[in-house]
Amino acid sequence: MSKLMPLVSEGAGKINPVSVAEYVGLGGYEALKKAAGMTPEQVIGEVKKAKLLGRGGAAYPAGSKWEHLLHIPETPKYIVCNADEGEPGTFKDKLILGKLPLKLVEGITIAGLVFGAKAGYIYVRGEYRKIQKQLIQAIENAKQANYLGDNILGKGFNFDIHVISGAGAYVCGENSALLNSTEGKVGRPRIKPPHLAEVGLFLQPTLVNNVESLSSIPAIVLKGGDEFLKIGHPDSGGTKLVCLSGHSAKTGVYEIPLGKVTLRDAIYDPEMGGGVRGGASLKFFHLGGQSGPIGSPAQLDTVYSYTDLRKAGLGVGSGAIVVLDDSVSILEYLKGVTEFFIHESCGKCVPCREGNKQLYSILQKLAVPGAATQTDLANLRRLVTTMTAASFCGLGQTAAVALNTAWKLFKDEFEANVNRSAAAAA
Ligand SMILES: Cc1cc2nc3c(=O)[nH]c(=O)nc-3n(C[C@H](O)[C@H](O)[C@H](O)COP(=O)(O)O)c2cc1C
Ligand code: SF4
Repeated sequence: MSKLMPLVSEGAGKINPVSVAEYVGLGGYEALKKAAGMTPEQVIGEVKKAKLLGRGGAAYPAGSKWEHLLHIPETPKYIVCNADEGEPGTFKDKLILGKLPLKLVEGITIAGLVFGAKAGYIYVRGEYRKIQKQLIQAIENAKQANYLGDNILGKGFNFDIHVISGAGAYVCGENSALLNSTEGKVGRPRIKPPHLAEVGLFLQPTLVNNVESLSSIPAIVLKGGDEFLKIGHPDSGGTKLVCLSGHSAKTGVYEIPLGKVTLRDAIYDPEMGGGVRGGASLKFFHLGGQSGPIGSPAQLDTVYSYTDLRKAGLGVGSGAIVVLDDSVSILEYLKGVTEFFIHESCGKCVPCREGNKQLYSILQKLAVPGAATQTDLANLRRLVTTMTAASFCGLGQTAAVALNTAWKLFKDEFEANVNRSAAAAA
């Protein structure tokens, strides 16, 4: 029996992505019609029952976020879709944006209806230039068919969606930096609180959700929250789009039910990753992007759910699963991760701006026989603690997660080149 479960990605590749008629032929816009006959509280009740956890990486419960925004009296409200998809090894939003953009558009429109929002914005990764054009066309076609624009479905609801292009900054995926960038300001994070639900886009109440989260809304409305929950794990309903990359034999995006598939299945099942390229041995895997944890083959039987992975010291994050074979040096790999964060740090705060550079210089020393001392190792540990606790935003707070988890698994490799006599003198 197949372990895959196409739910959010159902129909991807089977229709012309910008054709409203073909999307409707797949059952598209039935959810919007159903939601139009429900109260906002009823729709949010279903999202809560579904236990949809945000698919952008932070796994925040969507139902609670929606409920919070509903209770804020200020208007106008805005719906913002985070399609920045900057996390390396992550390309699942691209599948929806490229092959099923109208499902996302429908999800955003349902959110707009629930909150009586003025407008929706999709902030799309700058590198997805071709996809942006197609998305704009899909929105235009939805407007022509009266699924967007004025008096949608004759319900007196006016709503439009705008596409904003990012310009290649990873930090702009952080929700407050994303709003600044959408407003035309420098893409740096804002201080929180106030929550974006209260003071968001143009300082107005705002919902920010990931592409996959918003594209799950039509299925939740149509099936009902209870059914959606049953598909997945009792703590987090539905499916997850996972991205296999690195030395995976079959790189790609696979949709799996949460809680019903193990990491081993995802990496080795012939329908999914199909094992390690060239039949090599797996050395480690990196979950959820550069900001996520590193895991070992001993953890392969962990069930792929938010709860099980967290208990194992791992995490779903963005859904990335980067597979690395035994030719990879963990120190070289971590140098690459740290270089990424040096490049992407916005420079606003010291722990992240300087900490990543210091981490890199210690990793460089550790790779050279006899260059590093035990003091360097102790400094490495102190840096990890300081950066995690004192960085201003999630970028710096998670920049050392890979290093910290790898430290526990590959301590020997960290210590292999350390100059022990210098350590004794220190
Ligand atoms: C540095 C950084 C980059 C992020 N990049 C993304 C991204 O590319 N896409 C995304 O959906 N969320 C990203 N996030 C998470 C967002 O801040 C936010 O949690 C998310 O958009 C909320 O939507 P969700 O609850 O539906 O996941 C990033 C967070 C940080 C700290
Ligand atoms: S942690 Fe600080 S320097 Fe790093 S991206 Fe966030 S605000 Fe900028």
